Amino acid sequence: MRNINFIIIIIRKTEEEFLVVNSTCTHMGCTVDAPRTVFDNLLCPCHGSEYSRDDASVIWYPEGFPPKPLKRYKWIYDNLTQTLQIDFSVTV
Ligand code: FES
Repeated sequence: MRNINFIIIIIRKTEEEFLVVNSTCTHMGCTVDAPRTVFDNLLCPCHGSEYSRDDASVIWYPEGFPPKPLKRYKWIYDNLTQTLQIDFSVTV
């Protein structure tokens, strides 16, 4: 088993579609907050970067170099067992 030393955020987009992201902000490494409602994006409390809840792309960032999208991971959902498997070795 591998240790994971970061927080992931999983957003259920539809019944069988998810967004699985590393919550480490690509601006300067703070931890991005999970959305508070189904309408909210992911916000970084440090300098205000905002990432899309649909695809983790950057919506807004502070002046300076633009951060990259949040790191997304490959996942597989099994509807029969209602199990979500996340592969941290594969980013998408
Ligand atoms: S570290 Fe997230 S916006 Fe700067």
